[in-house]
Amino acid sequence: MKNHIAFFRQFRSRFETTGAVAPSSRFLAKAMTSYLRDRRTDQPVRVLEIGPGTGPVTDSIVRLLRPGDVFDLVELNEEFVRILKERFATESAWKAVVQQSTIHQMPIQDYQPSAPYDFVISGLPLNNFPADLVQVISDAYFRLLKQGGILSYFEYMYVRPVRKKVTRGADRDRIVRIDEILSERCRQCRIRRDNVWLNIPPAWVQHLQKT
Ligand SMILES: C[S@@+](CC[C@H](N)C(=O)[O-])C[C@H]1O[C@@H](n2cnc3c(N)ncnc32)[C@H](O)[C@@H]1O
Repeated sequence: MKNHIAFFRQFRSRFETTGAVAPSSRFLAKAMTSYLRDRRTDQPVRVLEIGPGTGPVTDSIVRLLRPGDVFDLVELNEEFVRILKERFATESAWKAVVQQSTIHQMPIQDYQPSAPYDFVISGLPLNNFPADLVQVISDAYFRLLKQGGILSYFEYMYVRPVRKKVTRGADRDRIVRIDEILSERCRQCRIRRDNVWLNIPPAWVQHLQKT
């Protein structure tokens, strides 16, 4: 509940980057981490979470990490970073993986890791962003993935189709362009889409593979 209140405060003060009224449900977190859960290798993997917020998806990830895995989190908002650090310091499942986990407080578009990732799991509210930024971030997702690596991200159901109908002018142009950028990526690389109804609001989880 404490995290829900903190999240709602950030939604009110930083709507564009927070992008939701409440943290993701455990059902959405489960769908976001399904490929990590079913990993097809015994070798350690590199996992990147983008926009962890108060950590509902992180909570699922930390329980799936094995010794030797590397876990990086990139979060823009300093209040969310404070909450994440507190969780790594106090919650047992998080404490167990603290040595292999690193929080980077910065925008993802500035993040330059030393090596690419097997799994990129993103909670960014792309529909709120300028279209040029969505293009930069969509390219970054694929730059950050290893060959064969998997990107999982969510979007709230029907947001773009509805906004295309109800908005006008520059905002409609922005949504149309975002739709083109993301739909093209999905056409090229999507391996599965999950429908998650038990979330506020219901969401699609898109899973794409870099081939
Ligand atoms: C919709 S919230 C999702 C939070 C959490 N993953 C969840 O599912 O509840 C979006 C998160 O992305 C973060 N964010 C927004 N823009 C970002 C950027 N350019 N780089 C890194 N994080 C960003 C926000 O601060 C926020 O924590």
